[in-house]
Amino acid sequence: MKEKIQAKFKELYGVEGELFASAGRVNLIGEHTDYNGGFVFPGAIDKGIIAAIKLNGTNKVRAFSLDYNEATEFGLEEADKPAQAWARYIFGVCRETIKRGGKVAGFDTVFAGDVPLGAGLSSSAALESTFAFALNELNGNNIDKFELAKIGQSTEHNYCGVNCGIMDQFASCFGKKGCLIRLNCKTLEYKYFPFDPEAAGYRLVLVDSCVKHELASSAYNKRRASCENAAAAIKKNHPEVDFLSDAKRMWLEEVREEIPEEDFLRAEYVIGEVQRVLDFCDALERNDYETAGELMYQTHFGMSKLYEVSCDELDFLNKLARKMDVTGSRVMGGGFGGCTINLVKKDLYEPFIAAVKKEFPAKYGHDAKIYDVVISDGARKL
Ligand code: GLA
Repeated sequence: MKEKIQAKFKELYGVEGELFASAGRVNLIGEHTDYNGGFVFPGAIDKGIIAAIKLNGTNKVRAFSLDYNEATEFGLEEADKPAQAWARYIFGVCRETIKRGGKVAGFDTVFAGDVPLGAGLSSSAALESTFAFALNELNGNNIDKFELAKIGQSTEHNYCGVNCGIMDQFASCFGKKGCLIRLNCKTLEYKYFPFDPEAAGYRLVLVDSCVKHELASSAYNKRRASCENAAAAIKKNHPEVDFLSDAKRMWLEEVREEIPEEDFLRAEYVIGEVQRVLDFCDALERNDYETAGELMYQTHFGMSKLYEVSCDELDFLNKLARKMDVTGSRVMGGGFGGCTINLVKKDLYEPFIAAVKKEFPAKYGHDAKIYDVVISDGARKL
């Protein structure tokens, strides 16, 4: 990929650029907890974005996406927002850097990626983090990594219409080879957990349903609004509740009649999920993969029945995993399509994959894709 990117850069701009990269992410457990001030447990993966970049001495950005085979040019003022969705991520990162007092000089770039799009692996966070990191370096801004992650998150909020939490951008800025990150999304305290499933006799595999929900971002924003509504109702009785993750299950019960049933179910899921992350990390520290896996199944149940972000295809893959004795399986990321993440004993890996390859297309008429992932480094200069 690097060679192709540099070759195109040279063809377009006559010189070579500096190479920067960042990664997509997986999340072992802790879904939809980030914007509720709870815990998440992600890691960066060996699939990401690479960009060649060079300052061009103007106040314009010239960008080329190899994957879309499309070029664009834009200025750095708020009114210069480009038309292409992919370019808006780069533009957003420039603007959010400037809003924080950072300098952004005009630059040329060519980039490409190997994070499957719409699979719930945060290709957008990989793109944002690559540019947030690179522009910080190239302009000598000295913005810290926490703020770089927030630049990516604000890009989603202000330029892409998704009111996301901090998990994806944090994972892709702080990702470290061989480690998962337990992040407290309220305080941004984090801890690296060495994670080597192979050594314990397991494999981590993603199964992509290849389903993409058209209205995923509005459904996502709606889930967030339900959580905030439930938290606000609880806060009336318990002023210490700033986020839903601060609430006890009992306190939610007190407002059952005051909030729509839908909001109650969403909140019930989140309160359970925050605790599951802690239990999962404890289990992992004991090398108890079986307990960890069971918690993943519980998360799937909650995401499907309470939070309602699964779909028929993902529920099918989850049931199939259970049938094939997979240790842990659940829908991963925002949901509404995308992947299941599966923790599989090594000797059950082949039969599980064979079952997916046979049974999924027989029911849905198209293949599911299989991705083996390795926990890897996040944003960096190559
Ligand atoms: C998306 C968002 C994240 C997080 C997950 C669900 O990936 O970008 O902030 O909310 O969904 O856990």
